[in-house]
Amino acid sequence: MSDIVLSSSLARVKPSPTLAATQKARDLKARGVNVIGLGAGEPDFDTPEHVKEAAIDAIRRGETKYTNVDGIPELKEAVVAKFRRDNNLTFKVSEISVAPGGKASIFNALMATLNPGDEVIVPAPYWVSYPDMALIAGGVPVFVETREEDGFLLRPEDLERAITKKTRWLILNSPSNPTGGAYSRRELRALADVLLRHPHVMVLADDMYEHIVYDGFEFSTIAEVEPALFDRTLTVNGASKAYAMTGWRIGYAGGPEKLIKAMAKVMSQSTSNPCSISQWAVVAALNGDHGFLTERNAAFKARRDRVVAMLNEAEGITCATPPGAFYVYPSCAGTIGKTAPSGRRIETDEDFTSELLEAEAVAAVFGSAFGLAPYFRISYAASMDQLVEACTRIQRFCAALKG
Ligand SMILES: Cc1ncc(COP(=O)(O)O)c(C=O)c1O
Repeated sequence: MSDIVLSSSLARVKPSPTLAATQKARDLKARGVNVIGLGAGEPDFDTPEHVKEAAIDAIRRGETKYTNVDGIPELKEAVVAKFRRDNNLTFKVSEISVAPGGKASIFNALMATLNPGDEVIVPAPYWVSYPDMALIAGGVPVFVETREEDGFLLRPEDLERAITKKTRWLILNSPSNPTGGAYSRRELRALADVLLRHPHVMVLADDMYEHIVYDGFEFSTIAEVEPALFDRTLTVNGASKAYAMTGWRIGYAGGPEKLIKAMAKVMSQSTSNPCSISQWAVVAALNGDHGFLTERNAAFKARRDRVVAMLNEAEGITCATPPGAFYVYPSCAGTIGKTAPSGRRIETDEDFTSELLEAEAVAAVFGSAFGLAPYFRISYAASMDQLVEACTRIQRFCAALKG
């Protein structure tokens, strides 16, 4: 067999560690083990009925052909209205891009802007795809660690220190995957003050979890907080998390027209348009009633509170209560150095999650995968029964550790 040569940019990229963790859990399940998977990054709710109906209507009307590469005008108008309504941001239709997922929006933006050696500041812990997408686009991810005591939010002075002449982007994700941390207006203001001193830095605001916030937390996005940044910010959002539409693959972004056009060029030579039917479904989602979010968020909040309380009762685990998304990011520092039932010593958070999976069949993702150890991520987009059972198993696992 001939040796297949891969590109050097791909050689630096690692496959998604969250998918690897999910696969490990799937393998155990196939062996008949009763695994509880807490690795999923998607709501366990269904897509709302009125959104499904809009998609069925679109199929019946024959909306089944190629569309504009970066979105049908009706969806771009709905996105303009959404940004105005929710974020107080005024975009023209020409400043909107629709793509097959928020992931594609971010990928297109990085592909369209990065030259070899350009730096992308990524606060850690981060969503696993940012660094690898920057690498594929020829850029260099620059990690800035955040601290648990700051709710895993970037400190302005740390941002200031990370900026160089080569910095092209700062990626800000709020609420965050994997921590659930979210920036208040005041915290964004402080970061904006740093950014105003560095006009060559663009900001990518990943607001994918905007609608999933608790305890009266008021969501803000940086282009709204500091209008002087509007011309160099790409505000990214999508249908996956808010409307439980992960499989439909629609993301969107608002930003400078020159960037939006360049992103369309990337798409025109790669994916072409996002699915026509999904686009019509998201028109209905954005323009329709959002009442269902209240009930869903109440369910998420009850699960978050239960999970946080139970994790804090586990020996060696501490877990803060984050204001958004459907993840918690507990520390397992108190278990490091102890010995698992298998006889293996836990040296890292990866050891912790792999021993937990072996001993108690609970699948979570280790923190090093997101760039900050020793932690692990739990997605509470699962039923309350499953969550309680998983946390009971985690407590039992921690109590059985020796040393
Ligand atoms: C922080 C963050 N950004 C972007 C995405 C991309 O979502 P999608 O491509 O489904 O729109 C995800 C999905 O997990 C995410 O967690």
